[in-house]
Amino acid sequence: MILPIFAFGSPVLRKKGELVTKETPGLKELIANMYETMYASSGIGLAAPQIGSSLRLFIVDGAPIDTIKPANFKQTFINPEIITEWGEEWKYEEGCLSIPTVREMVSRKPELTIKYYDEDWVMHEESFEGMAARIIQHEYDHIEGVLFTDKISGLKKNLLKGKLSNISIGKVNHDYKMKFPIKK
Ligand code: NI
Repeated sequence: MILPIFAFGSPVLRKKGELVTKETPGLKELIANMYETMYASSGIGLAAPQIGSSLRLFIVDGAPIDTIKPANFKQTFINPEIITEWGEEWKYEEGCLSIPTVREMVSRKPELTIKYYDEDWVMHEESFEGMAARIIQHEYDHIEGVLFTDKISGLKKNLLKGKLSNISIGKVNHDYKMKFPIKK
């Protein structure tokens, strides 16, 4: 089932997600719905809070990026924990399904090691670099209640204020299902 994506301004996007357990109701279905929703909106990552579920869970599929390493970068991250990040920060223009039409340069470290469970509750500890690391960092921020627009300079943030408040009332173009926190 395709779910609506919660827009900027939704309180759930600002909450720290709760730990997922094997007893979390409907977990398998939730994950399946998240993939369906991500593909329907042409995203490369989606975190549970973005569909209104305050959980430490996100999914990625880097297939639309030709140069991504590993080439088959499709994974479900349950209760992830970034253990270390390293290297010299690099900038890249990021976007977010919860903040349509906004793209801004964000600085992040190029390499990281992360521990997580997959959907079969197998624990992994892996290192990623470049775009794969960046997608993980962006989605990981979501489960911490952080958005990429928090990471840009004060000046740029000020310039964006009007646009962001318009997004929260649904005054924005989007070609996928969304849920806006404030009714016009
Ligand atoms: Ni995002």
